[in-house]
Amino acid sequence: MGLFITMEGPDGSGKSLQMDLLEQDLEQRGFDIVRTREPGGTRISERIRDLLLDPECAEMDARTEALLYAAARAQHTAERIRPALEAGRIVLCDRFTDSSLVYQGIGRGLGVEEVAAFNHFATGGLAPDLTILLQIDYEEGLRRKNRQYDGHLDRMELQQNDFHHKVHDGFAVLQRLYPERIRMVDGSDSPEEVHKHIMEIVEPLLSGVGMTTDKDERRCRI
Ligand code: TYD
Repeated sequence: MGLFITMEGPDGSGKSLQMDLLEQDLEQRGFDIVRTREPGGTRISERIRDLLLDPECAEMDARTEALLYAAARAQHTAERIRPALEAGRIVLCDRFTDSSLVYQGIGRGLGVEEVAAFNHFATGGLAPDLTILLQIDYEEGLRRKNRQYDGHLDRMELQQNDFHHKVHDGFAVLQRLYPERIRMVDGSDSPEEVHKHIMEIVEPLLSGVGMTTDKDERRCRI
């Protein structure tokens, strides 16, 4: 089996940049990486993503939302994540089940256990080996997102501040539930500092993972 690493955090926590830095660093060390994201990562899951993030779907019921995230995840797990792990690769995934536990379980108030139950069904019980949780002040997160997209926010980002506040606090609650797997990193430091902290956490896990020596073969498999 390979290694399954996920990155989590509130909107605007700097996950994408940190995913880029982590991917580059691991590739430079010769590891065979699959970089992916949720909701999305496969053709079908990306179509579900469009529906989930469309501001015109404002009337979407919380249970519909939770089930669509889980449906996208089921396809992603079966088609992309499991095969990559079985091939011994490192999977870097921007968000996974923890996002549903926090956004839908806590943010929407559907309950962490309830949401965990149908996500367990969706993934066949697959859980990350390590989850990096980037934590920042939630207002700073929204400001960053606003700057990034020049005010064009998706359906989730358009939720009330109260929702984002619950999500922010919810990640800290989840981290306390799974302290071994979920490691919190302060996302308000400089990108270089944040990356350094992340590598300190990731490095001890790398010894058990195979490396590709044949770069052409690696390119074929991506
Ligand atoms: P995205 O643009 O990928 O945001 P980010 O860059 O912050 O990850 O949009 C994904 C949105 O979907 C984000 O607001 C978090 C939300 N989300 C859930 O509510 N539940 C989930 O299970 C997942 C994976 C994401």
